[in-house]
Amino acid sequence: MIAILVRGSLMIALNMTAEDILPILQKVKYPGYTRDIVSFGLISDASLIQGHAKVKVEIGGSDSTLPNTLKHEIETVLEAEPSVSSHEVRVIFKKDNDAQNSQEADNGKNTLAGIKRIIAIASGKGGVGKSTITANLASALSKINNDQGEPLTIGVMDCDLYGPSIPLQLGISEQPTALEENLLSPVENHGIKVMSMGLLVDEETPVVWRGPMVMKTIQQFATNVDWGELDYLLVDLPPGTGDAQLSLAQILPLDGVVIVTTPQKAAVEVARRGAMMFPKVNVPILGIIENMSFLQDQETGEKRFLFGQGGGPLTAKNLETVFLGEVPLDEEIRLGGDHGIPIIFGHPDSAASAAFTEIAGEISSLLPTGD
Ligand SMILES: Nc1ncnc2c1ncn2[C@@H]1O[C@H](COP(=O)(O)OP(=O)(O)OP(=O)(O)O)[C@@H](O)[C@H]1O
Ligand SMILES: [Mg+2]
Repeated sequence: MIAILVRGSLMIALNMTAEDILPILQKVKYPGYTRDIVSFGLISDASLIQGHAKVKVEIGGSDSTLPNTLKHEIETVLEAEPSVSSHEVRVIFKKDNDAQNSQEADNGKNTLAGIKRIIAIASGKGGVGKSTITANLASALSKINNDQGEPLTIGVMDCDLYGPSIPLQLGISEQPTALEENLLSPVENHGIKVMSMGLLVDEETPVVWRGPMVMKTIQQFATNVDWGELDYLLVDLPPGTGDAQLSLAQILPLDGVVIVTTPQKAAVEVARRGAMMFPKVNVPILGIIENMSFLQDQETGEKRFLFGQGGGPLTAKNLETVFLGEVPLDEEIRLGGDHGIPIIFGHPDSAASAAFTEIAGEISSLLPTGD
């Protein structure tokens, strides 16, 4: 009994028709709607072979809790079905290729075409560790292998024009080279491609930008860098919801944004306000990362919650998104940042590295780059 559906149309039907699995999936309503996921055309792959059900669903929208909710509902329906003995269910966000294809550099080249996923890292206020999280997530993602067993290719775009710190964090001081007019080559270290304002301006020169300049610079940044093929491009944003964030969300085809916050309850409202603009411009909030969650005593293992507790999960709840995890306070994180060797590479066995690895895994499963 085999029925395989690809992108809504029946490709192969052996012995039995598609009725085998589709009527089962028709019992699953799209959350908040009376229509089912089959009639919505969300099933991109479904089969039922010898009792093993395999279902892949691709959804749009901006609700990062949806994949898990929908997955759970599909599994519940499958488990109630006598003909199904095991299952494999994947629910992922659809790739927005149309938006990516519209981006062209000044020289007519579409420099974003080879990038599979673009994720922004944002926060409501400054100093919460956004750049640290960006550098370490990039590092952790670069250690994940794709389906062919090759490491994922990662880039970082530092859009914090006022206080760029990514080059320092990733150990880069080299200037980017101009490949041709209006096309810069990113600089690479630890296998990660980087482009930052910090690489283009003199360290001694204070950067004073006006709104239109911010917009123009970000546009050039977004479109005039020869990124080549990337699985993930992480974009480090300046704090808040100013010109730069809005420009970016309009210029770059962002697949999602991750919000960084600290554990204080007082930071919850700031983080929420900072994050609110993203769904308005159709960028899904993938989840919340809480940084500086606790300091762990090396000897006793006791955790001290220097900045309070609960801010991350509460922000996630308020924004109706998922809590991606917590990152401890660790001197080695700061030292790694100051010396350009992210803790993921310097101390891969530390608890902090484990936290980054877990969060990177979570993000890559929310926004996969494979089929
Ligand atoms: N979990 C952590 N443990 C120890 N130090 C940390 C941690 N996270 C960040 N830091 C340190 O805190 C400082 C601020 O971090 P970072 O520059 O990443 O913040 P930011 O949110 O990017 O700041 P800005 O808003 O200015 O861009 C850095 O010195 C960094 O090394
Ligand atoms: Mg920063």
